[in-house]
Amino acid sequence: MCGIVGYIGEQDATPIILNGLRRLEYRGYDSAGIAVLQDGKIELRREVGKLDRLVDLVRQQPLAGNLGIGHTRWATHGEPSARNAHPHVSASGEVVVVHNGIVENYLELREELTAEGTVFKSDTDTETIVHLVDRFLAVDGDLVQAVRHTLLRLRGAHGVVVFSTREPDKIIAARIGNAGGVVIGYGQGEMFVASDIPAILEHTRQVTFLESRQMAVVTRQGAVVQTLEGKPVQPTLHSVSWDPVAAEKGEYRHFMQKEIHEQVRSLTDTLAGRVDFKQGRVRLPQLNLDAQQARAIERIVITGCGTAAYAGMVGKVLIETLARLPVEVDIASEFRYRDPLVNERTVVLAISQSGETADTLAAMEEARRKGARLWSIVNAIGSQAMRLADGSISMQTGPEIGVASTKAFTAPIVDLYMLAILLGELRGTLSDAERRKRVKDLGRIPDLVGRCLDREAEVINVAQALKEMRSALYLGRGVNMPIAYEGALKLKEISYIHAEAYPAGEMKHGPIALVDRDLPVVAIATQDPWYEKMISQIEQVKARGGIVVAVATEGDERIAALADRVFWVPATPWLLSPVVTVLPLQMFAYHIAALRGLDVDQPRNLAKSVTVE
Ligand code: AGP
Repeated sequence: MCGIVGYIGEQDATPIILNGLRRLEYRGYDSAGIAVLQDGKIELRREVGKLDRLVDLVRQQPLAGNLGIGHTRWATHGEPSARNAHPHVSASGEVVVVHNGIVENYLELREELTAEGTVFKSDTDTETIVHLVDRFLAVDGDLVQAVRHTLLRLRGAHGVVVFSTREPDKIIAARIGNAGGVVIGYGQGEMFVASDIPAILEHTRQVTFLESRQMAVVTRQGAVVQTLEGKPVQPTLHSVSWDPVAAEKGEYRHFMQKEIHEQVRSLTDTLAGRVDFKQGRVRLPQLNLDAQQARAIERIVITGCGTAAYAGMVGKVLIETLARLPVEVDIASEFRYRDPLVNERTVVLAISQSGETADTLAAMEEARRKGARLWSIVNAIGSQAMRLADGSISMQTGPEIGVASTKAFTAPIVDLYMLAILLGELRGTLSDAERRKRVKDLGRIPDLVGRCLDREAEVINVAQALKEMRSALYLGRGVNMPIAYEGALKLKEISYIHAEAYPAGEMKHGPIALVDRDLPVVAIATQDPWYEKMISQIEQVKARGGIVVAVATEGDERIAALADRVFWVPATPWLLSPVVTVLPLQMFAYHIAALRGLDVDQPRNLAKSVTVE
């Protein structure tokens, strides 16, 4: 979704902003723009399409100034076009704004402003903001007050960044609700504003995050934060440990491929400091959980969207098996509006890579209102989902840039496995010996993952053979049933090939009618408790002339004889098998999309961080 970058200092603002926007490209966008204060005036450049077009425009019509803001837009109101791209400048030419979110009452505001004589130049909801600031500024003569009064008129969730020629020593940034974050970066005699950390990481590691209904007056010297009501707030400084190099593509063609291969490291990092292999124990101090509390939990509801929800579906099997605690998985966009039955004896556990997904945050807020205990598993440090929770486990995967989530799928599975062991120990459902064995199994994960990734060449062969397919059916059972969903999601989102997933036992209730020689059926059939059932499902597909691509355990001769193609994975303790079975499916989807010449990292219509409903 939309990205924001702002700069105030002594350097030339333009390259800093354009580079920052480059780092936010992964969020998805359809136009981009930049505004710089040049010789006391606001100079604007905007272009539809990729950022390179804006960079070309700036090359032809250069900008110079030490204060500026930029934006990548994902259209909500008005088509993607230069005219609708941000920043938007007020009629007086004195105020400029960039915005993430949706002004829910924009029609009403637009009518009001039009009646007063304002002429709108775009179809966006955002333009109402800049005209309102202009109007209040004309009355108050004070930019901070004008922005405050404007924000108080807006309905919905917003991240807003403004500057004005009237007060050229400051940028004002504000956040209302969950329309994505606003992060402020501290430099020496210079300051940065952004929607996400990667945009400013090459300049600073010292950051603070705005909470909802807070605004910051940012000057070269620092930031003064206050609530929308004017109450001073002491900002908490965070030190970000991410390496900016980790956000580069390096030797890989796409971020997605790089991120697939980073899973040995990301899973090692997610275990680090949490597993005591000597004692066979897991520690998750962030959850602040003792035996009494663990026994008092009646139910866990895992919520999230897309890939995060599928990781939650694996977590359900893990927690129910090891801790004998009922777990439901509730898609966040459903949970938030269903008046869900949760109470103080329920833990609601949200999973989110970005920590800024609007539906997930709304589900968390709903759970909070109902008195549930809130936990989260989140990748983006300092994000809302991390801060809203009573306890949060960090995925430790580093930035994930590719829109298709990969390493942020396997890390939460390992986190959920650790949580299941901890709950099992505290609730007395795991014997000492079993706990030790489960912890020992965890130590094998990085090696098993590495061995799967080493088989990429075999996956490429299958992708070559099937790259023209029009549709695919993914089947799995038990702990690997969510892997069928995740495999199908990966394929459809980046290759635009229709893919459906089913619990394999459901085949006979309908989808088997689809099977013919043109439909590849991807069946996850590793040696887990559902293996025999999967074999009979594969036989049924073969009996109807279908093409079977199996994910199977190395050395399995029955599968070798039955399936047309096989993605081999090493023998893995079955509860951890989803961490390995998903890997060939990630690589398969990636290579099909790459072979089809598609924009793997920024697929059409998709955004990395879905901060609107
Ligand atoms: C994953 O490949 C998808 N692009 C998408 O389903 C994603 O997982 C979903 O939007 C949730 O995002 P989050 O983890 O940042 O909350």
